[in-house]
Amino acid sequence: MMKKIFFLASLLLILVVLLTLKQGNHPKWSDYQKAYFAEQVSKLQVELGRVNDEAKKKQLQQDILSYQNRKPEIINLVLSEGKVERCKTCHIGLEEISSSHPSNTFGCAVCHGGNPLSLDETTAHAQMFGGSHPGSLEIASLSCGGPGGNGVSCHSGNQETGKNLVDSVKTSIMSTKAGELSVVRMTFGLDKTKEVAGLTKGQVAYRYPSPLQGRPNEGIFQQNCLNQCHQSGGELPVPLSQGKIQGNGCESCHILTNPTHTYIGDDTTIKGNKSGYGMVHNLTTQIPYNQCNQCHNQGSHDIIKMEFSVRPDMGKVIRDWTAGYSTWTDRLSDYYLPGELFAKCEVSLDCIDCHTRQDVMGDGKFYTSQHDAVHIQCLDCHGTKEKLPVTKKVENPKDLMFEEPITNPKFPALQKGDEIFMTTRGEELPFLRHKGDHWIQTSRVTGKTFKIPLVVGSQCKQVPEEQGADSCHKCHARTALHP
Ligand code: HEC
Ligand code: HEC
Ligand code: HEC
Ligand code: HEC
Ligand code: HEC
Ligand code: HEC
Ligand code: HEC
Repeated sequence: MMKKIFFLASLLLILVVLLTLKQGNHPKWSDYQKAYFAEQVSKLQVELGRVNDEAKKKQLQQDILSYQNRKPEIINLVLSEGKVERCKTCHIGLEEISSSHPSNTFGCAVCHGGNPLSLDETTAHAQMFGGSHPGSLEIASLSCGGPGGNGVSCHSGNQETGKNLVDSVKTSIMSTKAGELSVVRMTFGLDKTKEVAGLTKGQVAYRYPSPLQGRPNEGIFQQNCLNQCHQSGGELPVPLSQGKIQGNGCESCHILTNPTHTYIGDDTTIKGNKSGYGMVHNLTTQIPYNQCNQCHNQGSHDIIKMEFSVRPDMGKVIRDWTAGYSTWTDRLSDYYLPGELFAKCEVSLDCIDCHTRQDVMGDGKFYTSQHDAVHIQCLDCHGTKEKLPVTKKVENPKDLMFEEPITNPKFPALQKGDEIFMTTRGEELPFLRHKGDHWIQTSRVTGKTFKIPLVVGSQCKQVPEEQGADSCHKCHARTALHP
C-alpha cells in the first residue's frame, strides 16, 4: 500500500517536472514572438517584390534573414530608475504609444498597472487599470492622472491647473452629459431654466436620481440617452458592428479607431477580428472629424419618444471612412447630418481646427448647456465689420505652446515675437497666425494652410450684434445638396 502511494506520488512529481520543463522550453511568449517574426518576414517579402533598387533589395534580404534566424528571448525593459518590465516579451510587436511617452523611460505599468515582471498572461494582467481601456474616466486618475515613474505628476495634480486634464475632462459637459439632462427636463417642464436643481459639478447625468421625476419614460431616457457613450460601461451609439463597442474617456478622442474598432497593428497577441480596440497602439492629438463623429452627427434624437434614428446615409459615411481618404464632395456629405447648414470652413477645416482645447477637454467649470460650454465663435477667426480678430504677441519662450511640436508634427514653426490669435474668452489659438497682411490658419490634422477671409473690408451684410452661427448661416449656407 505504502509502496503504491509512493509510486503514484513520484509519478505525479515526474509529471509536474516534465510539464514545467515543457513550459520552460515552450512558453506561450515564444509563440507570440515566433508569430511576430513570421509576420515581419512576410511583410518584408511583399516589400521585396515591389522594390527595384539593388541596394534596397540587399538590405531587405538581410532583414528577412535576421528575422528568420531570430530566436525568442525574454525582453527586459530597463527603465530609467532601474525597474524592470517584461510585458514586451509577449507584446513584442506593439507600437510605441507616442513620442512623448517613450517605452524605454515610461514602460507599460505606469499607464496599465498589472505585474510587469510576470511572464504568465493571467498574473501579468492581474489588477490592470481598466483592461484594454486604461483611458476610461473611472480609472483615468490612476492611469493618465497617476504619478509618473520619477514621481512627477502626469495629467492631474499639477500646480498649473491647465495641465490637469483628467480633472477637467471628467467635469466637461461631454463627460457629464448635463446638457442632455437639462434640455430634456426643460422640454418636459420640470425646470424653467437650464439649471438642474441638485446636480453638482462633475456629477454624471445618469447618476442623477430620478432625472424625469418618475415619469414612465424615465427608464428609457436613462438607457437610450444618458447611459450612452464614454461613461462607465457605456457603449458608443455606432450602429457599425453587431458586437458592443465601448468609447472610453481619453481614448475616445486620442486613439484613432476604424469603423469596426479592430486592431490592425503588429502585436500578435491581439486578434484582428476582435472588436474594442483602436487601430494601433498610438496616442495622437491629430484627431480627424470622423473620430469626433463616432458620437456626433450619427443621427437624430427624438426627445419626446426617447428614440435615436441613425442617419439614412450612414452606409456611405462608413464606406468613405473605411476607404481612409475622402474627396471634398464626400467630406461635404459625410461631415454633418443631411440637411444641416454650414459655412465652407465648417467642412474644409476639421472639428479641432475650430474647437479649442477647453471646448473638447473642459475648462473646469460646470455647464448645463452645450451653448454655454462652447468657447469658439465665428468672430474669433473672422472678426466683425468693425473689429479685426484678437491676437497676441508670443513673448515668453517658456510658454506651453512651444511644446506643441512634441505632440503635433504639423505645428508651424513658432518664434518669440510671432503673433497668434486669441479667442474672446482668452484662449490661445497657436495654429492661427497674423503676419503683415496675412491671416493664416494651419490645420492641426492635415497641416494644410488656409487664408482666413476677414469681415472687415468685405461686402458682408451681417448685423454687428448678431454674431451667433445661426445668424451667419442665414446667408452663408451650404448643404450637401447645395455645396
Ligand atoms: C501613455 C500610456 C500608455 C503606455 C505607456 C502604454 N500604453 Fe498600452 N494602451 C494605452 C491606451 C490608452 C490603450 C487603449 C488603446 C485603445 O483604445 O485601443 C492601450 C492599449 C494597449 C493594448 C491593447 C491593444 C491596443 O493597442 O489597443 C495593449 C496590448 C497594450 N496597451 C500594451 C502595452 C504595453 C506592453 C506597453 C509597454 C510597452 C504599453 N501598453 C504602454 C496606453 C498606454
Ligand atoms: C504571457 C504573455 C503576456 C504577458 C507577459 C503580458 N501580456 Fe498582455 N496580453 C497577452 C495576450 C495573449 C493578450 C490578448 C488577450 C485576449 O485576446 O483576450 C493580451 C492583452 C493585453 C491587453 C488588452 C486587454 C484586452 O482585454 O484585450 C493589454 C492592455 C495588455 N495585454 C497589457 C499588458 C501589460 C501592461 C503587460 C505587462 C504588465 C502584459 N500585457 C503582459 C499576453 C501577455
Ligand atoms: C464618446 C462620445 C463623444 C466623442 C468621441 C466626442 N464627443 Fe463631443 N459631445 C459628446 C456629447 C454627448 C456632447 C453633449 C453633452 C450634453 O449636451 O450633455 C458633446 C458636446 C460637444 C460640444 C459642445 C459642448 C462643448 O464642450 O463645447 C462640442 C464643441 C464637441 N462635443 C466637440 C467634439 C469634438 C471636436 C470631438 C472630437 C475631437 C468630440 N466632440 C468627440 C460626445 C462626444
Ligand atoms: C473630446 C475629445 C477629447 C477627449 C475626450 C480628450 N482629449 Fe485630450 N485633446 C483633445 C484635442 C483636440 C487636443 C489638442 C488640443 C490642444 O492641445 O490644444 C488634446 C490635447 C491633449 C493633451 C495635450 C497635448 C499637448 O500638446 O500638450 C493632453 C496631455 C491630453 N489631451 C490629455 C487628455 C487626457 C488625459 C484625457 C482624458 C482624461 C483627454 N485628453 C481627453 C481632445 C480630447
Ligand atoms: C469652422 C469652425 C468649426 C468647425 C470646423 C466645427 N465647428 Fe462646431 N462650432 C463652431 C462654432 C463657432 C460654434 C458655436 C456656434 C454658435 O455661435 O452658436 C460651434 C458649435 C458646436 C456645437 C454646439 C452646438 C450648440 O448647440 O451650441 C457642437 C456640439 C459642435 N460645434 C460640434 C462640432 C463637431 C463635432 C465638429 C466636427 C464634425 C465641428 N463642430 C466642426 C465652429 C466649428
Ligand atoms: C478657427 C477659425 C475659424 C472659425 C472659428 C470660423 N472660420 Fe470661417 N473660415 C476660416 C478659414 C480658414 C476659412 C477659409 C476656408 C477655405 O478656404 O476653405 C474660412 C472661410 C469662411 C467663409 C468664406 C468661405 C465661403 O465662401 O463660405 C465664410 C463665409 C466663413 N468662413 C464663415 C464662418 C462662420 C459663419 C463661422 C461660424 C460658424 C466661421 N466661419 C468660423 C476659419 C474659421
Ligand atoms: C444678410 C446676409 C449676411 C449675413 C447675416 C452674414 N453675412 Fe457674411 N457676407 C455676406 C455677403 C453678401 C458677403 C460678400 C460676398 C462673399 O464674399 O461671399 C459676405 C462676406 C463674408 C466674409 C468674407 C468672405 C470672403 O470670401 O472674403 C466673411 C468672413 C463673412 N461674411 C463672415 C460672416 C459671419 C461670421 C457672419 C455671422 C456673424 C456673417 N458673415 C453674416 C452676407 C452676410
